[in-house]
Amino acid sequence: MSASDFPRPLVMGVETSCDETSVAVLDGENRIRGHVILSQDEHQVFGGVVPELAARAHLQKIDSVVDGALKEAGVGLRDIDLFGVTAGPGLIGALLVGVCWAKAAAAAGGRPVVGVHHMEAHLFAASLEDASAEPPFVGLLVSGGHTLLLHAEAWGDYTLLGQTRDDAAGEAFDKVAKLLGLPYPGGPEIQRAAESGDPGRHSLPRPMLRGDQRPGDPDYYDFSFSGLKTAVLTCVQGLEEEGRLPKERDHVAAAFQEAAVDTLASKTLRAVEETGCRRVLLGGGVSANAPLRREVAERLGPDGRLFTASPRLSVDNGAMVARTARFRFDRGEVAPPTLTASARLAFPGLSAPAA
Ligand code: KG4
Ligand code: ZN
Repeated sequence: MSASDFPRPLVMGVETSCDETSVAVLDGENRIRGHVILSQDEHQVFGGVVPELAARAHLQKIDSVVDGALKEAGVGLRDIDLFGVTAGPGLIGALLVGVCWAKAAAAAGGRPVVGVHHMEAHLFAASLEDASAEPPFVGLLVSGGHTLLLHAEAWGDYTLLGQTRDDAAGEAFDKVAKLLGLPYPGGPEIQRAAESGDPGRHSLPRPMLRGDQRPGDPDYYDFSFSGLKTAVLTCVQGLEEEGRLPKERDHVAAAFQEAAVDTLASKTLRAVEETGCRRVLLGGGVSANAPLRREVAERLGPDGRLFTASPRLSVDNGAMVARTARFRFDRGEVAPPTLTASARLAFPGLSAPAA
């Protein structure tokens, strides 16, 4: 099959908001024709993402990542009908690389470009693999920079229920991994270590989760992970003093993961009960966490539906950006030539609940 046989329009999605350089080509039926996700390993030695290094690495790699995606799709840049690019939120230097690249490519080919909100793109990821993963649903978005609980009544129409007041869920996994001497990114490392740990050996708090909270309370849906991280720090310091950290490491990882998963799943299920919507979608890098998926599925029960993307599409990727760009384009949204990146871009269509 050649490019001329693909259903049109062909959309290229460009993602450079953090430490993945990723580009995808979607055909007119939202099938992924080419997709490259390059994770930067420059940051490993620093135990976290170094913003300037990330921007430089995107700049060095973006052309070869684009070439790889085009080659896999068997199309040329001239065949692309629409460009979508993450315009925020994220690291500003990193975002600017993708935005500049997409604007230049679109201008050179006389094609439109659409700026995409990174967290809205995470909402679209599961629909690339399962067409029924569409609103209405309760959405839990958990990534390295954000933790958002929302009710999606339709694409583009979202009610914010809760968010983190301090650290994001992924940030907590990464920081706890660092405390335990595990490499970055910490989420998959914690999950692996926890498999051989007993979560009951160390007792950790469930931040902002209490039985006496009621709908309407300001903390009913909100999250807080920095207290949990501090509790892990205190626990780790105690174990280090006693020289027991190496033996206890996996148990601490398991206890942390259980506390984080319990909090995320409990608040998600509160939203299910209050909205009456038994369809739940998990998005963002932390949604790759197998115990989180299991816990939410179990609590949701057989009459609920749980939508998740495969681990590859749960983390940052260009395909979800292309999919979101198509949605926005179909609604008549095209970026002006002045399109820029914003580290704190507002989530489009996300409103606070009616009082
Ligand atoms: O969505 P994402 O790829 O990038 C951002 O938008 O931030 O999410 C990255 C986050 C990291 O904090 C990483 O540790 C976490 O997702 N993560 C996981 C797992 N895989 C990735 N957290 C828990 N369990 C996992 N299996
Ligand atoms: Zn992300």
